[in-house]
Amino acid sequence: MIDAILKRRSIRKYEDKEMLEEDIKEILEAAMYAPSAWGTRPWHFIVVKKSELKQKLSEATPYASHAAKAPVLIVLVADMNLAKKWVEDMSIAADHIMLQATDLGYGSCFIQIRGSNEKVQDAQEYIRELLKIPSDFNVECMVTLGKTAEEKDAHTRKEIDKRRIHLNGW
Ligand SMILES: Cc1cc2nc3c(=O)[nH]c(=O)nc-3n(C[C@H](O)[C@H](O)[C@H](O)COP(=O)(O)O)c2cc1C
Repeated sequence: MIDAILKRRSIRKYEDKEMLEEDIKEILEAAMYAPSAWGTRPWHFIVVKKSELKQKLSEATPYASHAAKAPVLIVLVADMNLAKKWVEDMSIAADHIMLQATDLGYGSCFIQIRGSNEKVQDAQEYIRELLKIPSDFNVECMVTLGKTAEEKDAHTRKEIDKRRIHLNGW
């Protein structure tokens, strides 16, 4: 497990190569084992492969341009009829996606959607309209996936600042 945790980096350049369907399935299954508040599992995952849709989604925020060229883009959506703590539930699911993707040899990157309103339209509303997501479902983030086309060093244990760990109080 620590290997995948250290290896996972935010990858923003991808090979123009399709992902294996079975790998996408495995990655989404890993997401669906994530913990969720009250065990509500409020998630839905929209798998986007169509180029024109990825292009439009990459314009949702100023920090999403790499989504256009990622082979697969996952949009993480929470059912607000079920969710009690949707931000946390969806963020943990996103981390499961990224770690499982790393373990299978893919690169990934988290793209913030909730609360992103740097563009004319709020990013969540823009995506809701584009993908026809009902109003009682919220979009937390997107995760790009694909074979990496950039070299990034794995994290190392030297990065850890032990002063951040406190025992029995501050
Ligand atoms: C809550 C959150 C929001 C992020 N939003 C974006 C984003 O919108 N676009 C992007 O390219 N990266 C985004 N990132 C990725 C971070 O920039 C990245 O994790 C950070 O720089 C550390 O690098 P590493 O992931 O390679 O360890 C986000 C990460 C998190 C956890």
